[in-house]
Amino acid sequence: MTLALALLLCMFLGTHGFNKQYPIEPQPNFDLEKFSGEWYRIGIADESELFAKYKKHIKLSKGLLVPDTNGNVNLTMWTMSVYSYEKTDDPGEFTYFSQRHKITKDVTIVETNYTDYSLVLKYKNMDKEYTQVALYGRSSILRPDLIEKFRSFALSLGFSEEAIIAPKDLDPCPILEPRATLWLPEEQEEAEAESRNNNID
Ligand SMILES: *[C@@H]1O[C@H](CO)[C@@H](O)[C@H](O)[C@H]1NC(C)=O
Ligand SMILES: *[C@@H]1O[C@H](CO)[C@@H](O)[C@H](O)[C@H]1NC(C)=O
Repeated sequence: MTLALALLLCMFLGTHGFNKQYPIEPQPNFDLEKFSGEWYRIGIADESELFAKYKKHIKLSKGLLVPDTNGNVNLTMWTMSVYSYEKTDDPGEFTYFSQRHKITKDVTIVETNYTDYSLVLKYKNMDKEYTQVALYGRSSILRPDLIEKFRSFALSLGFSEEAIIAPKDLDPCPILEPRATLWLPEEQEEAEAESRNNNID
């Protein structure tokens, strides 16, 4: 679908109407080995109210993705949160249990060329509270062509302009920083939910 058509669709569906017109599949022949290693999260699209409130404080963050021999992966962010994603029958699609929302979410590697970027969709049922798109880059340098690719993709799914951000500041090493500056939408909220519930897992 062209961007213009997607934008037109958004106008009909209302600015926050997610586009559920076409199913989203993982990248064909997904290669987990090539996908593993360091990634910077350089773009986020999120339509939730909480995100709107905190998006100004969100920084670029770094993560390390480590697969095991079964094809499951752990993603460790600089915040030291570890996410364990379980493989599904679809290579390039994983699931995990969100502590914040208390539901199982799917994570789909929609597009990647392994050496430069990846577009990742979380929760493809397209829900304003749960769905997120992220752009990951092998480098923290913001390349306009990659940002544009990410923006077009998010817009085509029905995200509004305001919901799409590309943070400029790199998160400093979190160990030296007070926790309040480490705004990472999902990770932060999950950590807070966990501390409220005393529920560490
Ligand atoms: C992923 O994390 C879990 C729980 O912390 C751990 O048991 C497992 O060994 C880790 N796997 C890899 C590949 O690091
Ligand atoms: C990945 O994409 C970037 C730009 O989009 C390009 O410069 C690079 O050559 C690509 N790498 C591969 C392996 O296709």
